[in-house]
Amino acid sequence: MKVLITGAGGQLGLDLLEAFADHDTVGLTRAQLDVTDEAAVAEAVAALRPALVVNAAAATDVDGCESDPEGAHRANALGPWWLARACERTGSTLVTFSTDYVFGGTAPSGPGGSPRGYTEHDPVAPLSVYGRSKAAGEHLVRETLSEHHIVRTAWVSGARGRNFVRTMLRLADAGGPVRVVDDQTGSPTTTRDLAAAVRALAVSGRHGTVHLANEGSATWFDVAEAVFALAGRQVDLTPQRSSTLDRPAPRPAWSVLDTTHARTMGIGPLPHWRDALGRLLDELGARGPGAR
Ligand SMILES: NC(=O)c1ccc[n+]([C@@H]2O[C@H](COP(=O)([O-])OP(=O)(O)OC[C@H]3O[C@@H](n4cnc5c(N)ncnc54)[C@H](OP(=O)(O)O)[C@@H]3O)[C@@H](O)[C@H]2O)c1
Repeated sequence: MKVLITGAGGQLGLDLLEAFADHDTVGLTRAQLDVTDEAAVAEAVAALRPALVVNAAAATDVDGCESDPEGAHRANALGPWWLARACERTGSTLVTFSTDYVFGGTAPSGPGGSPRGYTEHDPVAPLSVYGRSKAAGEHLVRETLSEHHIVRTAWVSGARGRNFVRTMLRLADAGGPVRVVDDQTGSPTTTRDLAAAVRALAVSGRHGTVHLANEGSATWFDVAEAVFALAGRQVDLTPQRSSTLDRPAPRPAWSVLDTTHARTMGIGPLPHWRDALGRLLDELGARGPGAR
């Protein structure tokens, strides 16, 4: 199968390139294809005529998006739209990624009143510019191309690029005290497991919106604690409230993704996030001798 991966220089794009390596796969970085350039997108898709386009390009600096809403909209809404329009003309399927930050953060009530994860059918209510731009991208793709997979994922970390896990390892190296918020709960996910699941999804023919994330839920504090334990690092780690951080973009307090839809249609379950994190640390060569 001929596959085009856009945003191929990002942390997910790089792992998607490996997951699709046994296909006839072309990866284009931002320098090679800017997805906000409608003509360039149309030209690239028409020239390659891929059966599948996987769009890993996005403006992912959640705080940065607050001061550049038009840039966020161009990359996260228009980019996927231009790709969907190009795919429509070539009969290609499009996979594009969205986020748990399309949700508002008030945990839906599950059995017995306990909080449950968001399903694909829960209403979106983004709190940030980033979340709104991703929700707009979802909407435009759905309206344009029936053969689409909108993959909502969350809290993504891979062996390359900028992410929370690598930041925690860097802070452990720096040796000072580390403060991490414990009042946001989500679905930590690795690019490695996500890319493998996307591959399975892309050949399934089961189009639509789907949540793909590692199993289990955690706060950022839980993830930091697990990173330091698995890496065998002694770090002075203390919990912090989000309100004390004063970051430009509000984050949902609860954004756990329910993956029932994916699992029941035969995609996944992805491994538990702790297992995924352990394998990520192995990949980074960061699993410590004193690992707990
Ligand atoms: N990271 C997370 O925690 C997270 C959570 C939920 C959903 N997602 C979604 O997952 C997907 C992959 O994200 P990621 O974590 O791999 O992010 P990433 O590492 O920031 O990768 C995004 C890539 O897209 C490129 N890009 C930005 N604007 C572009 C444009 N106009 N044209 C072409 N490429 C462009 C970036 O290039 P530059 O670096 O040169 O700008 C970067 O290589 C995104 O759709 C993101 O919204 C991520």
